[in-house]
Amino acid sequence: MLKTAMHYSHELLSEVVTIGDHVVDATMGNGHDTLFLAKLVGVGGRVDAFDIQKAALLATKEKLAAHPEGVAVNLHLTGHENVADYLQGEKIKAAIFNLGYLPQSDKQIITLPQTTKKSLDALLAHLQPKGRIIIVCYYGHPGGREELETIQAYCSDLPQKQYNVLAYQFINQKNQPPLLFCIEAK
Ligand SMILES: C[S@@+](CC[C@H](N)C(=O)[O-])C[C@H]1O[C@@H](n2cnc3c(N)ncnc32)[C@H](O)[C@@H]1O
Repeated sequence: MLKTAMHYSHELLSEVVTIGDHVVDATMGNGHDTLFLAKLVGVGGRVDAFDIQKAALLATKEKLAAHPEGVAVNLHLTGHENVADYLQGEKIKAAIFNLGYLPQSDKQIITLPQTTKKSLDALLAHLQPKGRIIIVCYYGHPGGREELETIQAYCSDLPQKQYNVLAYQFINQKNQPPLLFCIEAK
């Protein structure tokens, strides 16, 4: 059976992320991806996760309570547009974004095209060869369509010599099914 965007995003991460890697969750939310990444990088690995809502940090902290010993998971209460300040020039193997709003929360607090772009610029500058950045765009909410268009244009314009870029979506589903982009450094 074909995978949902969420499941496919995890498969794309699992294919490249290994024990000891340094990775980024750019939109922590309820912490599903942070926990998934923590398990992939294991002991000696490092996850830097970002969100602008305290509720997201608390939910993620709770989820991580049983996270594997030795994984450095750093939860940052700040926008992903500041990611470069936390990487200290280190290269990363992967990053993931789930764009939109925090489920069961304030639908006005959403990711925004310009800050998402700024974050992507910074992450691309830190991406290892064969590393991947995954962006899952949910765009059914006000402002979502503009962000999707910005990110789609950004991804389409990346130079083919340096990056492979993939788009994945169910095109016969109703209600704006999420669109996944995967940027792979060559
Ligand atoms: C769709 S949710 C993420 C879901 C999450 N991946 C999970 O596993 O639950 C989007 C999240 O992005 C956060 N967000 C909005 N603007 C942000 C920014 N500039 N930097 C980081 N996170 C941001 C929201 O607060 C929200 O929690």
